[in-house]
Amino acid sequence: MEGPRAVKKEELQQLTDLINYVFRTSSGREADMHISFPLFISEENLNNLLVMVDNGKPVSHMGLWINDFSYFGQPIRVGSLGSVCTDPNYRRQGLATKLMDAVLDHLEAEGVDLLLVSGGRGLYQRAQCFKAGEVTWYNISKNSSLPRFEIVVNPPVEYLAELWSREPMHSHRELNNFKALVEAAPLPRCIQHQSTVYLAKIGNAPLAYIQALNAPNGGVLFYEWAGDRTVLLEIASYISNLPETREVTWPLPSWEKALHNLMPKFDAKVNRTEELSGTYRIIRFASFIEKISKYLQEHYGTNELQGFDEGDMQVLHYLDEELKLDRKNMSELLFSGLLPKNIPSKMKSLFLEVAPLPLPWPIGFDYI
Ligand SMILES: CC(C)(COP(=O)(O)OP(=O)(O)OC[C@H]1O[C@@H](n2cnc3c(N)ncnc32)[C@H](O)[C@@H]1OP(=O)(O)O)[C@@H](O)C(=O)NCCC(=O)NCCS
Repeated sequence: MEGPRAVKKEELQQLTDLINYVFRTSSGREADMHISFPLFISEENLNNLLVMVDNGKPVSHMGLWINDFSYFGQPIRVGSLGSVCTDPNYRRQGLATKLMDAVLDHLEAEGVDLLLVSGGRGLYQRAQCFKAGEVTWYNISKNSSLPRFEIVVNPPVEYLAELWSREPMHSHRELNNFKALVEAAPLPRCIQHQSTVYLAKIGNAPLAYIQALNAPNGGVLFYEWAGDRTVLLEIASYISNLPETREVTWPLPSWEKALHNLMPKFDAKVNRTEELSGTYRIIRFASFIEKISKYLQEHYGTNELQGFDEGDMQVLHYLDEELKLDRKNMSELLFSGLLPKNIPSKMKSLFLEVAPLPLPWPIGFDYI
């Protein structure tokens, strides 16, 4: 058995076959994983597709997509893990566990600050990837409001790119990659929904867009959005008022403050609140805290926050105070705002004000 190592170019087809078998054809679906994820499962990304190989054939896989991300103007590096699979004849031999260790080393070497995983199984929990954050699901009912702007269905990607690049939190997408992702519509394809993008514009100026997932029963789920928040609500109403729409569901992370406050004005009802889907692990704690600290200084005028690893613990320094937590409790403090019992007073005031920190949630075109 060879590995963990990056897949070779000549092995990519066999790896694609394995991924398609595990996630698609073994359950009677079309082999379209490489179509759903054209950038991720590709020759350009070989270095980030880690495999175990037996007799020249990939038998276990963990893939990463590593990207630059703007966190309110602070550059962070984000890795997303996906298409995790082991050939059924090779399961329960520890292959995925070995790959997971290699993935963590690879992320560190690639300078990644934050890992996003689209699942929460034992394999990821053992690697200290945790549930985090908070999302509230709203239902938007049909209402009497009319959009003040022109609505364009499936507009040119250039409009979307302009709005996306201005989002406070956004992944870096070159225009060609953006086009490929819109065409692939990864998440809708995975859950066998149609994908429609609605753009509001005035003249030639794009104002806001929503990508919607259309279920066969008339249900619509919002998937990615960007632009002016009041205009987004108008697009949401427009979609919900379409005759073919039965119900609109919009999952809103806690940091979407303006949208949360606008919801009652559009008669939207809370359906449920839960943690964000997927799990998270901070990879380079000191670097992550340094970047977050700059965001906090800019947005809240706070003093400098520093972080470093100490064995299995993560340590925060703030003014003359220190807090040591294990990874789980640290993740809960930062991303869910759960204050530990031993938090010193100045840090307590800080986190009461700033937590939960905004957290990238790639349910949109970045979904892996
Ligand atoms: C999930 C998946 C990738 C795991 O692959 P794997 O190579 O079998 O993983 P491992 O062998 O490292 O671990 C699997 C289990 O076997 C156990 N195990 C590991 N070595 C073992 C050994 N020598 N003997 C017995 N059990 C062992 C592990 O403890 C683990 O148990 P747990 O996850 O219930 O805690 C594989 O089951 C799969 O392809 N599933 C379908 C696709 C899928 O669901 N992917 C994940 C999407 S989020």
